[in-house]
Amino acid sequence: MNKIKVGIIGLGRAGWGMHVSELKTFSDMFEITAVCDVDFKRAEAMKDRISKDVRCYSKHKELINDPTVELVAIACRSVEHTSYALEALRAGKYVVLDKPIALSYADACKLLTASKKYPGRLFCRQNRRFEPEFNHVLQIMDSGVLGNIYMIRHSVFSYQRRNDWQTLRRFGGGQLNNWGPHLIDHAVQLMGDKITNVDGILRKVTAVGDAEDYFKILLTGRNGRIVDVEFSGGAALKSNIYEVHGDRGSLILPSAPGAQFQLKYLDPAYPLEEIKADPGTPAISMNKWEPYRNPETLHWIEKTFPVGPDNDDNISTIYRHVYNAIRKGIPYRVKTEEAVEVVRVTELVRQQNKKFRQSRLTRMGK
Ligand SMILES: NC(=O)c1ccc[n+]([C@@H]2O[C@H](COP(=O)([O-])OP(=O)(O)OC[C@H]3O[C@@H](n4cnc5c(N)ncnc54)[C@H](O)[C@@H]3O)[C@@H](O)[C@H]2O)c1
Repeated sequence: MNKIKVGIIGLGRAGWGMHVSELKTFSDMFEITAVCDVDFKRAEAMKDRISKDVRCYSKHKELINDPTVELVAIACRSVEHTSYALEALRAGKYVVLDKPIALSYADACKLLTASKKYPGRLFCRQNRRFEPEFNHVLQIMDSGVLGNIYMIRHSVFSYQRRNDWQTLRRFGGGQLNNWGPHLIDHAVQLMGDKITNVDGILRKVTAVGDAEDYFKILLTGRNGRIVDVEFSGGAALKSNIYEVHGDRGSLILPSAPGAQFQLKYLDPAYPLEEIKADPGTPAISMNKWEPYRNPETLHWIEKTFPVGPDNDDNISTIYRHVYNAIRKGIPYRVKTEEAVEVVRVTELVRQQNKKFRQSRLTRMGK
């Protein structure tokens, strides 16, 4: 195979822990030829992990200008994401840009412009687009069994007490920039139409620092659908990760390891009788709930089943899609416009929560 030669900028939890591991999984498609970290020792440590021939840098420009590098993976802190991606695109490289792709809508629009100038070169790393649970939810929604879907809840809860740079606004921290890109990306897809209204609440609960570790965002779509997205880093018990409600049924996925989908929907073999609103006074009944309901019998189908989409994708297989796009011309699933929409929503929520406005952004070590 014609391997893609990769240079990685930033060798932390994402770069070292995710990008390198994922690229090694697809070692028939990719070869890591260069690495860069402001902490040069981290770059040098890659000689033991990858190959003694890997080129090590402490300045991003050196890696971008390395002629062996065909694709630049950007996994340093969020503040530099947009500018490094633009530099790499201008240098003629392919770019895998980790989330958040930008810390402002204006910067995201610069990426969109660049992606048009350098078509097929920018790959926004919305890796949770490939999450099995999410894709299974989409499949069930598309099957039509839930009827007209009017409301979706998507929540990720944990109890973390974080204290790293992701809790500091001056470094672009806060969970709206951290988990937000994943959950808002899901929300944009779950909406399935243009987002017409955004209402967001940010709070700081258990993390230290000055950035939010809780967000709740209510999105409304042109199709009338409501998508409610919530993240908490200060919740001791988890809620359902997905809840989808349609006018013919509901779907729930609890948040627990090995949790199963619960699906309940009206059996299409029993068409609903047409009924009309009755302006009269209902009869008095011995059964206290009877007068409040239409006494028809509803025929439900109820199922419980494990998460199991029909492909082998997961949040660690995104590089295979990058390879397929570059070498085989298969369209990349995450469109830059969609990643930009995520940043637009993020910025609106931040504007609505002045206390958590982005402060003057600072690079690591400054
Ligand atoms: N897609 C995902 O699932 C996912 C998961 C985790 C983190 N991320 C993203 O990855 C980025 C990094 O997060 P992290 O948790 O790995 O942080 P981290 O602090 O663990 O690692 C960042 C690394 O980048 C280096 N670095 C910082 N500034 C640099 C620069 N200008 N040039 C070169 N190297 C630089 C640091 O020395 C460090 O080694 C964040 O933007 C985060 O949002 C994405």
